[in-house]
Amino acid sequence: MSPFLVMLCLAVQLGVSQDKEEYLVTDFDSGGILPNAWQSFGDLANYGVQQRNASSDGKYYELVWNGATDKGYLVAQSDITFRLIPKKKLKGKSMDNVFLKMDVNCGGAPGTVVNIVLVDGPNDCCSNEVNWQYTFTKTNCGWETIEINLAEFGYAYNPSNHEKYININKVGRVKVGVDVFSGPARQIVQFDNVALVVKDSVTVKRYDENAIIADTTALKTQAKDFFVGMAVNPTRVQDPKYATVYKKEFNSITAENAMKMKSILKGMDAQGNLIYDWTQSDAIVDFAEANGMNIHGHTLIWYNSIPDFLNDFKGTDQEFELLIEKYVTAVVSRYKGKVDSWDVVNEAIDEGTSEFRKSVFYERMGADYVKKCFQYARNADKEAKLFYNDYGLMYDTDKQRGAFALVDDLMADNLIDGVGYQMHIDFNFPSKQEIQSATDLAVERKLLVHFSELDVKVNSKGKLKEFTVDKMQEQAKKVYEVVGIYNSIPKAYSYALTIWGLKDDDSWITPTYGFPDWPLLFDSDFGKKKAYSAFLQALE
Ligand code: G3I
Repeated sequence: MSPFLVMLCLAVQLGVSQDKEEYLVTDFDSGGILPNAWQSFGDLANYGVQQRNASSDGKYYELVWNGATDKGYLVAQSDITFRLIPKKKLKGKSMDNVFLKMDVNCGGAPGTVVNIVLVDGPNDCCSNEVNWQYTFTKTNCGWETIEINLAEFGYAYNPSNHEKYININKVGRVKVGVDVFSGPARQIVQFDNVALVVKDSVTVKRYDENAIIADTTALKTQAKDFFVGMAVNPTRVQDPKYATVYKKEFNSITAENAMKMKSILKGMDAQGNLIYDWTQSDAIVDFAEANGMNIHGHTLIWYNSIPDFLNDFKGTDQEFELLIEKYVTAVVSRYKGKVDSWDVVNEAIDEGTSEFRKSVFYERMGADYVKKCFQYARNADKEAKLFYNDYGLMYDTDKQRGAFALVDDLMADNLIDGVGYQMHIDFNFPSKQEIQSATDLAVERKLLVHFSELDVKVNSKGKLKEFTVDKMQEQAKKVYEVVGIYNSIPKAYSYALTIWGLKDDDSWITPTYGFPDWPLLFDSDFGKKKAYSAFLQALE
């Protein structure tokens, strides 16, 4: 771009002719930082500005890290950071109105995490900085534009930094660093068109911690385009106290345990016929049918819910496979026309890897066991929506890659309709961006998205003895964020947002982790928590 054009663009970008937006841009085209917009600080010169790339609109800035390891390595920020100082101060602006915008390209390694730091004072660390992380998720790298509201910084490391320490009127530096959490040893990240955008007209909707909820409102009526689901068990659907709330608030149910293999499959007789117990699963289906609720079936195949006789099965692999086919066919056929959707296989990918978990199904039926099970389910009910369901899909980038490779494989044979993101999360983790970009992976594939088992821990380290007001509000903010993301999924791809239990004291979390937690929307007296209010508000 000629110097004249640069000046012209800059004049426009600085807001001379724009009433609502003001840009401070650096596009590196002049071989460095544009003098009137930002100045560089620190390490920029060491790395240099690269030449024009076909997919970029000009020169761009590239960071190369020749790492020695392939995962879990945090690059020292001082070595690999470029810092930009906006020359124009942000005085008089609010966090809500200012955005950091940039084009990024992962240059060959999905899974690379770019850590962006905002600093409001003279020092570089740590009490006066907030973070925001962007994870590259696409299989093929390419330029993407990201725009982050400054109010969203802070969640990555310490949510209490958010709004507490950063003073917008003092924001002086934006430091962009690369943290390599996974991927090949050599990481390249490219940046272009780094800009601060001021949008005076923006009004950001946020969670109101003092909102009063009318008792006539219900989650299911506020959610216009998707089901609001609840995990239930046979005892609770028969308990009037629970049933009243279920019926009022929810229009979809998932059996927390009653439709798992361990609950249904009781053994095999001498002739090789499978012995089923439908008591619990029928109770739940009957309740849903009687109350006009949707039923999501959970789960046909899960390594963690296998009857003992199957673990010790002495037959051949072929006999094992036939047994699984019979089982899947029997369950899906029994509830054909009643159960709308199934988690066909749950948690097939091992944590921290892109590999299959070495379950009995994998060992006995081979690496295509997942595909076979989806095919059995499809054969038994052509109308049922089939889901792959897993946890950690938002933050475990290796697992995410493995899971979506599996999803792609299933899609190739038209065997899958949706992805279930379990959403057992913490009040401060994963970040909004991680949840958003993981959700986008299913939407891009035109698959249904199910947030299938939402609960939000506040005490994962076990330090809290009671549920504090602070934690109650932090949890509510996270719920607001999650529901907001779900609510913005295009209608064609949204299915259900299911909460994994009604009352805090019903949750699987406390018995599993061994210390108290308060992860749900209702307290132990059936009282609506702030998290409930946040859920409703996010749907408005
Ligand atoms: O019903 C028996 C009871 O008779 C017995 O006295 C008692 C003694 O431990 O156990 C009871 O069964 C327990 C069952 O929950 C019902 O409370 C099982 O031990 C216990 O393992 C089971 O835990 C469930 C867990 O999955 C394993 O199936 C949790 O309730 C359930 O919330 C949890 O849900 C899973 C999802 O299916 C998949 N995603 C992760 C999620 C959390 O782990």
